[in-house]
Parts: sequence; C-alpha cells; structure tokens
Amino acid sequence: MHTDNVVDCHVLVIGSGGAGARAAIEASKYGHTILVSRSITGKGGCTPMAEGGYNAVINSEDSCNLHEGDTLKGGAYLNDPELVKILVEESPERMSDLVNWGAVFDVTAERELAQRPFGGQKFPRTCYAGDRTGHEMMMTLIEQLRVSDVELVQEVTIIDLLKDGDIVSGAIGLDRRGGMIVFRADATVVATGGLGQIYDVCTNCATGNGQGYAFSYRAGAELIDMEMVQFHPTGAVYPYDARGRLITEAVRGEGGLLKNSKGERFMEKYDPERMELSTRDVVARSIATEILEGKGTKNGGVFLDVTHLLPEEIEKRLPVMLEQFLNYGVDIRKEPMEVAPTAHHMMGGLRITPDCMTTKKGLYACGEVTGGIHGANRLGGNSLADTQVFGKRAGESAGKTVNRDIVIDTEQIKAQRERLKRFAEGDVNPAEIRHALRKVMWKGAGIFRTKEGLQNAKSEIDALRTLKPKAVTPQNYAECCILEDMLTVAAMVVESALIRKESRGAHLRKDVPTEWKPEKSPYGHTFQSLKGSGVEKREAA
Ligand code: FUM
Repeated sequence: MHTDNVVDCHVLVIGSGGAGARAAIEASKYGHTILVSRSITGKGGCTPMAEGGYNAVINSEDSCNLHEGDTLKGGAYLNDPELVKILVEESPERMSDLVNWGAVFDVTAERELAQRPFGGQKFPRTCYAGDRTGHEMMMTLIEQLRVSDVELVQEVTIIDLLKDGDIVSGAIGLDRRGGMIVFRADATVVATGGLGQIYDVCTNCATGNGQGYAFSYRAGAELIDMEMVQFHPTGAVYPYDARGRLITEAVRGEGGLLKNSKGERFMEKYDPERMELSTRDVVARSIATEILEGKGTKNGGVFLDVTHLLPEEIEKRLPVMLEQFLNYGVDIRKEPMEVAPTAHHMMGGLRITPDCMTTKKGLYACGEVTGGIHGANRLGGNSLADTQVFGKRAGESAGKTVNRDIVIDTEQIKAQRERLKRFAEGDVNPAEIRHALRKVMWKGAGIFRTKEGLQNAKSEIDALRTLKPKAVTPQNYAECCILEDMLTVAAMVVESALIRKESRGAHLRKDVPTEWKPEKSPYGHTFQSLKGSGVEKREAA
C-alpha cells in the first residue's frame, strides 16, 4: 500500500544478498514485505561473488560437535556459543531448502552432495558448486523471490533508519535521481553485509561499505567486536584493477601450495600441522610476514601453486579461477598464481539474540552485518551457511512482529533533507575523501596493528570527517551519505581496535604482549553504542 509518499509495509528488509533475500522470503509468509536493494536485486551483495562453499554437517562421519568445536576454536573463543550451535545445527536444513528450490551443488559418484576441505576444519564439510557457490545460491534465491509475494524495490540507497520514540519504524532512502522515499514498517531487517570497502584492498562488492553498521548505530543499536576484520589470505595482486579480488580458499582445499620467492612452503614454519589449511588469520599473517621479510614475488605477493594437480581437476573444480587468471595472462594449469592478503569479512557487528533481534526494538539483523557468530575469525564456508540460517530466523522473527501503530516523524525527514542540502553546498569530491580513507585504514588498521598506528589512523579519520563532501547533482547525494557512513564505521573499527588490548584471532596488536591462550582471555566482546563503548570482562576459563 503506497500512501502520500510513504511506502507502507509489514516488514522492510534492507539488502538483497543471501541473508536479505532469505529473510524476505521468510517474512513474506507473515505479511507485506519489501526488499530494498541499492543495486539490482540479488546482484549487488557479496553472496553472488562467494566462491568456495557452504559448511554443513551432512556426513555420518562428521558431527555438529566437531563443527561447533572447529568454529569456536577458529573464532578464538570470542564467538557467542548459542549462535554457533544454531548455525551448526540448522545449516544442513537450510542447505536442503536450497537444494529443494533447485540449487545445483556438485555431487559425488554416489550422487551425494560433494564436500571439500577448508581451513581450520577437522572434516571436509564444505559443500560447493565448483568455485561459484554463492552465485548458484543467489540465482536460486532470486527465483524464490520471483514466486513469492515480496515487493522488490531496486536501486534505492537507504540513508537512515526512522524511529517512532524508541522503536525503529522504517527507513529513508534515495532513488537514483536523489529523490527521497520513506518506508514505514512494523519491523525492519538490516542485511546490508560488511565493510571491506573501507580498506584499500578488499574482496567486497561495491556495496560493502558498512552502511548498515553506521545507520543502526545512529538509531541507537549496540555493535560488538568491530575490531575483528578478517583479511583473506589470498587475493589477486595484479593487474592493478584486480587487486584484492578473491582467490578462493578452495584452491588450497583442492591441494594448492603456498610458496615464497625461494620456493619454500613457508606454512611449515607457522602451522606445520595444518599447513595451507590453517585458519585464515594465521595464513594471512604468515603470507604478510614472508612479504615483509623480502621473500615475496616481484608483484608483492607469494605463489599459490596448483600445477601439480591434473589439468582436468582444475578445469572441473576451479573453473572460475582458471578463467580469471587466463584473463590476467596466467594459465594456472602450468604456472603459479601470485596472491596476497585482502580485507574480506567483518566478524563484528550488530549484537543479536538467537532470534536476530538487535538491541533496538523493531530492528532485526542477519548476515555479515551481525556480530558474535564468528568470534575473532570466521572459518571459510561458514558465511554462506550464516546467511541462510540467520536470514530465515530474522525473516521469521520480523514477520511475527505484531502490527504496530507507528507514526512517521516528519522532523527526522527534515533532518535528512538538511543533510542533503549540506552536501549540495559541500566543496570536496567525495571520491577523494574515500580514496584517502581507504589508504588510512589499510596502513593503520590492517593485519598488524599498534597503538600508535591506530591513533594516527584515528586522527586522520577525524580530519577527513571535517571535510565537506560535494554532491554535484542530486544523483550524488547517496554517494555523500555512503561516504559519511564509511567514515563512521572506520572510526568504530579503529576505536574498538584500541579498546581491545590483546591479540586475538584476526586482531593482532604488536604493541601488546598477550600471554594467555584465547580461551583464557579475560576479555569478552568489545561494544559500542550511543551510550558508550568498552570491553566486557569475563572470568578467565
Ligand atoms: O575463499 C573463499 O572461497 C571464501 C569463502 C568464504 O569466505 O566463506
């Protein structure tokens, strides 16, 4: 129902990646659901770009206990155990949903779902569709959206949440021409994905710039562990425009070897037991160390070699990698790839209950924008499972929300109009500020961190925040809003990295000696909200 410039719905889902699409499908069973996307539905999030796979316990030799243990250990015991249990137990059912809806995953000779090994896992439990698993999932979800009652609103950028008193009551968006659209909703689900784009080198899609964290924070929701940014060990290093592009962990899962410029399998030094299939935090740091010690390739990476595999195996299991590198002029059947770490996944985010409620009434969240599931380091393959398990839960909880007699507060709309007016009167190209921010974050809040580096990053972000981005035409309003959000989340990452005075998982503080094992850490989650920030203390186990 569309009334006087206000689009009314029961559930508003923001973000149409794997989690958002799954949430919308579920919510639509309970009432009118709108799925709003910044891009074309299902094309913009990171899910369609996800390559390697989906973790699920489907083999009798595997078990939920094993998967849970791997996830907690991989997450350096910062994970919320209840959320991990849900992820592990419900992942196979959500996998069945996808298969029943027509997703085609690779199968064994016995027509069972095929599984491959991924890092940090005691069992090869990663299901896959070649090396384009996320694409297969997304095509399936889009098909389900088509046959559902979900209303798709495309190419609209949400710039802020709306509140009626203390309850989230919908959101304000901008269409392609910069026109404002107001959504009123009984329940709002944030599924906006991660923030990789605040880093100079990342695997993320263009929409991975952290808006959901920023506008949920402004609405008063609490975020946890915002320092926990995962650097995927293997991103492309050249050509320049492809820097950071994901080279799937499946390459190592299928037997790929990491070697430095001296031809040494250097993982022997860092994790002799798990070697190339150690957890991502360890492999990324090992690669970065080799490069810093001068044992990198001429393009600034290390070698990832599959030339010992049969060419037909590479063609069948890694077709996207093969094609991608052929485009870069490298035939991976005959010569090694060059790879280096790249910002990939955000483990921190909105604090949620098992039913995906945030700390703000009326606001639900699922997917990468949430925190707590993956702790301090996510296992490869757990993210696609997370999108489906918690996407369904968020959609169901939001759908079950009772209809609310919510009023749209025109003052909040006026405040957003003022914000846009400021951009019209700005004087700096937003692309320049964005470029500078990405360099600052890479340098000061990257794989290796120090108090001094983080404080410098903080000062530089503060300085960038004083600049006035210019919207040349109303079409540029959204770009300016996104930039402001990127600056907000970058400041949050740096602040929590300063708060966490220990090294744990993906967060390495070179200046803080950490004597305890992760499971014995006296610290729990870092937290940030409008009420303040800090770190939870916990009884050392
Ligand atoms: O390496 C990959 O294919 C990425 C998978 C993931 O992040 O789960």
